[in-house]
Amino acid sequence: MARILVTSALPYINGVKHLGNLVGSMLPSDAYARFMRQRGHEVMFICATDEHGTPAELAATKAGKSPAEYCADMYEVQKRLGEGFGLSFDHFGRSSSKHNHRLTQHFAGALAREGLIEEVTETQVFSHADGRFLPDRYIEGTCPNCGYERARGDQCENCTKQLDPTDLINPRSAISGSTDLEPRETKHLYLKQSAMRDRLRSWIESKTDWPILSTSIAKKWLDDGDGLQDRGITRDLDWGIPVKKGEEDWPGMEGKVFYVWFDAPIEYLGATAEWAEANGLEDAAWERWWRTDKGADDVRYVQIMGKDNVPFHTLSFPSTILGSNEPWKLVDYIKSFNWLNYEGGKFSTSQGRGIFMDQALDILPGDYWRWWLLSNAPETSDSDFTWESFQNGINKDLADVLGNFVSRVTKFCRSKFGEEVPAGGESGAMEAELEAELDKRMAAYAAAMEGIEIRKAAQELRGAWVAGNEYLQKAAPWAAFKTDPQAAAAQIRVAINLIRLYAILSRPFIPAASETMLASLNLDPDQPWPGSAREALTALPAGHAFSVPENLFAKIDDDQREAFAARFAGKG
Ligand code: 2FM
Ligand code: ZN
Repeated sequence: MARILVTSALPYINGVKHLGNLVGSMLPSDAYARFMRQRGHEVMFICATDEHGTPAELAATKAGKSPAEYCADMYEVQKRLGEGFGLSFDHFGRSSSKHNHRLTQHFAGALAREGLIEEVTETQVFSHADGRFLPDRYIEGTCPNCGYERARGDQCENCTKQLDPTDLINPRSAISGSTDLEPRETKHLYLKQSAMRDRLRSWIESKTDWPILSTSIAKKWLDDGDGLQDRGITRDLDWGIPVKKGEEDWPGMEGKVFYVWFDAPIEYLGATAEWAEANGLEDAAWERWWRTDKGADDVRYVQIMGKDNVPFHTLSFPSTILGSNEPWKLVDYIKSFNWLNYEGGKFSTSQGRGIFMDQALDILPGDYWRWWLLSNAPETSDSDFTWESFQNGINKDLADVLGNFVSRVTKFCRSKFGEEVPAGGESGAMEAELEAELDKRMAAYAAAMEGIEIRKAAQELRGAWVAGNEYLQKAAPWAAFKTDPQAAAAQIRVAINLIRLYAILSRPFIPAASETMLASLNLDPDQPWPGSAREALTALPAGHAFSVPENLFAKIDDDQREAFAARFAGKG
């Protein structure tokens, strides 16, 4: 059994994430990690908050906190929300951890040793009032092209022209509004990515099994003349990982920190080291996931992310890993996602448009969102959240098909045979037909999950639920009971076993409901994956006690749907 390392792209620390962020990385990673655990693999599932960079600093200022305080608070918020959605991270870390500091400085030192770091002197805008250099997008002024007064130093939002800060008329700091700005020389480190082109190309070309979305983006940037430019990996900021060469100071780099995109992916390793420490384990425990000279050769490493993150994971981070010339584990498979839209438009934090993780959990349980988001994941193209589609998915799939099955079967059994799996009767042709259908569905479901084809897996899962309903309709044990109670008993025995099977298969998608179903059957959540439908449908013998669970899913009525739609329409 291969060991499976799964990392989800790290959510930025500033602010609660919306459902588009959730379905683009954390949620599908969780479904995949859960499935692989169920299949008996040893899994390490890692995520963390991405805490550095100017947006984090500015969000802290806005909240009236220091960046350290702000990040500590927001980390707790994001961790709690992740738990609310049932995200089963082995560790949810922080890119500001001491482990990430040490590893990031280590990689910088290794890259310098390999001759892949260049010191470059450049001119940047210094703001006296703010006491700092300003990144391009934090300088505002009038656009020389269209006259828009709030154009940013990197681009005019109004006419889309790309700008340099020096193009702006009447430039001012977007932080303080001060016009007391001065161009100043400052020194930065550049990672010579261009020197890595050939190595990166042959590595990417060897990945013939990757999804098109991942390879096409990687190749586009690799072939594009600008795509693999040398990249500045340091910034003049206070909040971040101080620039060091391993454990040594880096002369001329005092007061500077690494660029957030340099240290963020290194936190995948950092968070695994945090996991080891949190569990009282030695370094060897995390290194066996990451060092190919210490056991990680047996690991299959899967990264899951939104498509905008692909260049960083196919070019930049591999440049760090390969460039270090040390035996670190490279990613084996990259799964990337398109965008989720909200009612035909974009999710917008500033406009309050769309649904954010905290709001979602305020109105409905995590499983409802998990089911709709995963079964509509933006895999091959963007997808659109609409309240109508959501209402449909919940009412039909969860309430009418799965929930209703569980409730009908357990209630009927309780009233006719009592609260235990009934004895008597035998399986026949109808059961054989059901088994054949389920075997097909289970194989297709497992293959889709192995390949992280989440929508396809959801379809197969739904198909398995439907097959049980059709069986029940056809067998009609409520009718059989009147003439042939033994036959009804055999059918209900199959149906109760189906509940157990559904709980097992559904766990990657709706883990809380799965647990409730198993608890009502007096079973713990860790049930073995069934070898066949026959095996699954005979697992619980006659006499096995159960209780009727609470209603698993409540329907969303039209009034509720309209009220939700109005509440999340946004200010714009
Ligand atoms: O785009 C984002 O949300 C980034 N915070 C993702 C970082 S992924 C990793 F490399 F850390
Ligand atoms: Zn303009």
